Amino acid sequence: MKALILAGGMGTRLRPLTYSTPKPLVPLLGRPLVMHIIDSLPKQVDTVVLAVSYMKDALEEYFRRNDCGRKVVLVNETEPLGTGGAIWNVRQYLDGTFLCCNGDIVSSLDLQDFLDFHRAKGGMGSLALWQVPNPSAFGVVGLRNDRVSDFQEKPAPGTARSDLINAGIYCFEPEIMDLIGEGVVSLERSVFPLVLEKGLYGHRFSGYWVDCGTPESYLRAQAVLLDNGQDKEHPAVIEGVKLSGRNHLDGSILSYCQVGPHVCALPRSRIMGGSSVVNSILMEGAVIGRNCQVHDCILGPGATIPDGQTVQGKILVAGENECP
Ligand code: GDD
Ligand code: MG
Repeated sequence: MKALILAGGMGTRLRPLTYSTPKPLVPLLGRPLVMHIIDSLPKQVDTVVLAVSYMKDALEEYFRRNDCGRKVVLVNETEPLGTGGAIWNVRQYLDGTFLCCNGDIVSSLDLQDFLDFHRAKGGMGSLALWQVPNPSAFGVVGLRNDRVSDFQEKPAPGTARSDLINAGIYCFEPEIMDLIGEGVVSLERSVFPLVLEKGLYGHRFSGYWVDCGTPESYLRAQAVLLDNGQDKEHPAVIEGVKLSGRNHLDGSILSYCQVGPHVCALPRSRIMGGSSVVNSILMEGAVIGRNCQVHDCILGPGATIPDGQTVQGKILVAGENECP
């Protein structure tokens, strides 16, 4: 069976991080986002097709160097074709029923259950559905007896007709290609309204679900994974370091720091003495100087915060003026 991952978006909401790293390769607890998705695919998926565009060379390089245990085919779009156009563009690499996932989703959905649901319903497509209090930033789904009756992509605030959203995880029959066609096409805006008539079903699930596309949601995904058992405590006990909550600590942490909850420090990163760090990530080689207060921050590879700074809610990358 084949699975398609839509991985060609520009990751604009995670800039400046995504100027040098495409969103699918942004590390989440030390593993690229896209690998969390690939790991969650059912065993019967032997081939993963990645629809790429933005920074495709970095993705090609990653998969050349890293074996993910399945065949990976990268299909490039010279111009981004939109979520629907990207599916149509890879049609020759797909056969039969296929899974399709947005490349920026972390979730506890059991994809085998989802496939079973799709087969039992027998529609042209199935969507995974997640319930949220404020759905207007997402695709909103009206559901009647498991069948999607209505789809609104990013409705204006106050106009959403339900609190169930498109989780960005799909199962499709190959006939969906006949409803897409060549060129730039939005799956959500142009194709779903047509699939509705052919039978589009919605599968609700519980557990966790996060779209990692914004700085806040990326840090939320990190926290969710940590709280669901993917934490990694620092092997060495360091004098005077106070750890709280769950963290993933692979860097060096000096004396009299307070770290956590929800901090990820990747290899070769450093938190210098006397600093306090909460809900943040330090990518490889990132450094937080002495006596800093850092909350809700994303430090890209090699980014540095000078001594004595208080920083909240920022994305910092190497080479920029690190003073916020
Ligand atoms: N290949 C390719 N080409 N991929 C693309 C393109 C493109 O032109 N445009 C977007 N993508 C990929 C992105 O990389 C991402 O993995 C996925 O398609 C979805 O794009 P986003 O830009 O992240 O969309 P969104 O988060 O605003 O909304 C989508 O996801 C929500 C769930 O997170 C929609 O599908 C919503 O309906 C949904 O609720
Ligand atoms: Mg997204």
